[in-house]
Amino acid sequence: MNRTIVDWPLPRVVAHRCGGSLAPENTLAGLRIAAALGLKAVEFDVMLSSDGTPWVIHDETLERTTNGTGRVCDTSDRVLRGLDAGVYQHRSFAGEPLPTFEAIAALCRELGLQANVEIKPATGFETLTGEVVARRILALWQGAPLPLASSFSEVALESARRVAPQLPLGYLCDRPPVDWQQRLDAVGAYSLHCSGTEIDDSVIKTANEIGIPVLCWTVNDRCEAEDLLKRGVTSVIADRIDIVASV
Ligand code: G3P
Ligand code: MG
Repeated sequence: MNRTIVDWPLPRVVAHRCGGSLAPENTLAGLRIAAALGLKAVEFDVMLSSDGTPWVIHDETLERTTNGTGRVCDTSDRVLRGLDAGVYQHRSFAGEPLPTFEAIAALCRELGLQANVEIKPATGFETLTGEVVARRILALWQGAPLPLASSFSEVALESARRVAPQLPLGYLCDRPPVDWQQRLDAVGAYSLHCSGTEIDDSVIKTANEIGIPVLCWTVNDRCEAEDLLKRGVTSVIADRIDIVASV
């Protein structure tokens, strides 16, 4: 299948979950920290509420990163709007809201941050999440270079491709499967995203030869980041952006 490419240069370092570990994950505060440290791109996770609205959160449940309880996909926008997504990290972040995808997109654009939007469907919502997030991306980045949309869910990637063929896609996996090239091809993915500890030189070499960018997460050690980039990895996705940002 034809692949759409991003029309901005992939930076060597991408901040994981907005601001990495320097701010509560997947928050507006994280974006501000990433921009202040000079990062050019951020990754974050997008999931649907029970109203079908995209919110920026990693887990299927609210407990770890907010003061709410229960599943995101069972929770209404009205309840999500009232949650604190900062105090779990430190009391100095108390009052940090759980952000909508819309708010994160607007701040990315304002701060000049490129985005890797990870489509993170709750179990059973793969098709819907792919469609909704892809449509929202087209609306939110109108007139600007489109972000790179990645997912572990091939179903979500296929549905994103169906509604937004112009959207560049990233194929996410922990360890690239032996048939990774066919899988990227099947969804028309532009890039391969995998764990930095799970990638072999043979995969990097093939990807480099055929022009597939490789993004590795979560790389929090400077030497490890330098080593991956030297081996041919395109970008590392980092939590410790204070340590890794300057490689
Ligand atoms: O997109 C890279 C990385 O974020 C994938 O893992 O679990 O942190 O979303 P996770
Ligand atoms: Mg992610």
